[in-house]
Amino acid sequence: MDAPSDALRQMLVRQLSNSQIKNRVQDYTMPYRELMSYYRCAMMEVETKFNVLNEELSLMYDRNPIESVKSRLKSPESIVDKAVRKGIPFSAESIEKNLSDIAGVRVICSFPGDIYMLADALLRQDDITLIERKDYIKSPKPNGYRSLHLIVEIPIFLHNRTRRMKVEVQLRTIAMDWWASLEHKIRYKKNIADDGHVAEELLHCAEMGAALDQRMEGVYRETTGAIGDDASC
Ligand code: GTP
Ligand code: MG
Repeated sequence: MDAPSDALRQMLVRQLSNSQIKNRVQDYTMPYRELMSYYRCAMMEVETKFNVLNEELSLMYDRNPIESVKSRLKSPESIVDKAVRKGIPFSAESIEKNLSDIAGVRVICSFPGDIYMLADALLRQDDITLIERKDYIKSPKPNGYRSLHLIVEIPIFLHNRTRRMKVEVQLRTIAMDWWASLEHKIRYKKNIADDGHVAEELLHCAEMGAALDQRMEGVYRETTGAIGDDASC
């Protein structure tokens, strides 16, 4: 069947009441809104897992290894930008299949060793599947960026079924987070005309941050002991 002409389409739209238009928009956007709601549930599950670990480990080590946990859902604008960049369809199905960072949880830790201890504790859990691991601490990005990135899959338990959702977890120390937040403001994804000097300065600051992390962890180990079960982490 031929698509309706513009004039016919306009006539049909004029005949629809406001509530009919609203219902159609809602029907059309429902799969996307549903998907975002599942991602919000998945972020809550991951956050809870870290809060539970923090609670338990704070008793074991007499300190909280987690400074803070923050979650964010990628905005519709960023999802569209990324879909365009990757050349993928905008459907909810395609977004779920092709993008793994719609749901993000950032865990700010006290010491570098805490990052590995917490990542291992998360990945040991039966319901978590590791999809991808990028260790930008052992191999920092050339600009100096450091963090441990995990893409994990986690089940969410709905009223009549279970669904597995992907969540990007970024684990970093306070120093790594401090650097990444400021670098993001200064440079990340912005076009700086001649950033040779800026890049050099940022790299230098990242290295200073990493040195401070090592030094503080050294002081901690000297005064209090190991981090986690594996003192070498
Ligand atoms: P995109 O997700 O499209 O950015 O590419 P990717 O999946 O190859 O990126 P990667 O997993 O390496 O990093 C994803 C996220 O890590 C970004 O959205 C940022 O939050 C953070 N990130 C990565 N590199 C940098 C960086 O150089 N500076 C800062 N500030 N953040 C970064
Ligand atoms: Mg990514």
